[in-house]
Amino acid sequence: MHVELEPAIFQPPTIEDVEVLKSSPLPDMKEIPTHSVSTMIQEKLQDLTSQKLNSENDHDENAFFVADLGEVIRQFVRWKTLLPRIEPFYAVKCNPDLMVVKLLASLGLGFDCASKQEIQQVLDVGVDPTRIIYANPCKQTSFIRYAAQQNVSRMTFDNAEELYKIKRLYPDAELVLRILTDDSMSLCQLGLKFGAPLHTVLPLLKLAQELNLNVIGVSFHVGSGCLDESAFADAVIRARKVFDQASEMGFHFTLLDVGGGFPGADVKDGITFEKVAAILGPLVDRWFPSSVRVIAEPGRYFVASAFTVCTNIIGKRSSLSEPSTAESDKQQVMYYVNDGMYGSFNCILFDHQVVHPKVLLRSNAFVMGQDLPESLFESSVWGPTCDSIDCLNKSTLLPLLEPGDWLYYENMGAYTICAASQFNGFKKSEVFYTNTFC
Ligand SMILES: Cc1ncc(COP(=O)(O)O)c(C=O)c1O
Repeated sequence: MHVELEPAIFQPPTIEDVEVLKSSPLPDMKEIPTHSVSTMIQEKLQDLTSQKLNSENDHDENAFFVADLGEVIRQFVRWKTLLPRIEPFYAVKCNPDLMVVKLLASLGLGFDCASKQEIQQVLDVGVDPTRIIYANPCKQTSFIRYAAQQNVSRMTFDNAEELYKIKRLYPDAELVLRILTDDSMSLCQLGLKFGAPLHTVLPLLKLAQELNLNVIGVSFHVGSGCLDESAFADAVIRARKVFDQASEMGFHFTLLDVGGGFPGADVKDGITFEKVAAILGPLVDRWFPSSVRVIAEPGRYFVASAFTVCTNIIGKRSSLSEPSTAESDKQQVMYYVNDGMYGSFNCILFDHQVVHPKVLLRSNAFVMGQDLPESLFESSVWGPTCDSIDCLNKSTLLPLLEPGDWLYYENMGAYTICAASQFNGFKKSEVFYTNTFC
């Protein structure tokens, strides 16, 4: 199905929006600086330099993140402007950063949790259990028991075994049937693992009826990193069909959950949030009466562009300093930095991301955002572990740099820190916060 709609234009936040947000209860935000990301990073590097001069502190060169909470707030305002009917439930798995979770909680969002730990984290910041959806179709039994104890009643399922499990452990749960949709245009095809194909919907609903379980609606996920906004249109139509089937069987569905897959603010070409909103908003209104509550589970959308990671060049191998030969002329300069594929850059492997290095500090000069005039050399950038898979950029152009210089990577907020390991004993990169929404 192809739907042609004019994208809605994102209006920047109004003065009223800003005032409401400024006066809303964001307790920890008061302590957070309001500098630009660039100023924050520069200050952090200056701190590191002075620490280095004053002591033998071995943490001084660690990679670090700067998170701009203002960017998260701007994404919230953009969502409210373009998809006012659809309530976002932030997918905690994408980046469970406590400050982000607290901020989104204070902005009134709901939360999509995948495990006991995520539910606990969200409840601990004071979120009411009714603002949580336990959106994992295959749940550990002890986690279902925990959800029952905490009154987190809304949860997804897509198979018969899960229904028997829920009947035993939480018979009063409010169940949401996750259906399979076309995710062939997404970087991460979640349908390989989850989602009930449409031909299984009837038997599943019949079983739920026999077990006297309370199914309240339908969810889907078009795949994370979705590259085609029409996937949302196709999924809404499938959900409508399931609503109709359920209604014929005597169910009264009241919830539609349109899942995740929304692009981050860094996506400027191809599928933008504006294009998704222009398709999704009108279609939901057309096919679902206002009595149906519509929620979504965006992850990447809220955090991708808010986080920048800064890495120190800890080593270099180059044939440029050696006598030139035909072979060595073809070789690259190899840089080694102190966060990598086993750390924040796991997104290259797990999230199919392509990351772009930029020069941050060179010969102690802060050059963030500058176009550097020098010649560029074929280079590769490697992480700090002893594994050769740990490569961030196999081939990229950089000016000549030296150990002690710094590189930065933008748009590193989604599916990065959350899956970072400490393989080879490297610590996770610390996060420093600023808020540019002022
Ligand atoms: C069930 C569920 N909901 C939401 C999300 C968030 O997706 P995205 O970050 O693409 O918005 C995911 C991601 O894997 C997911 O599995």
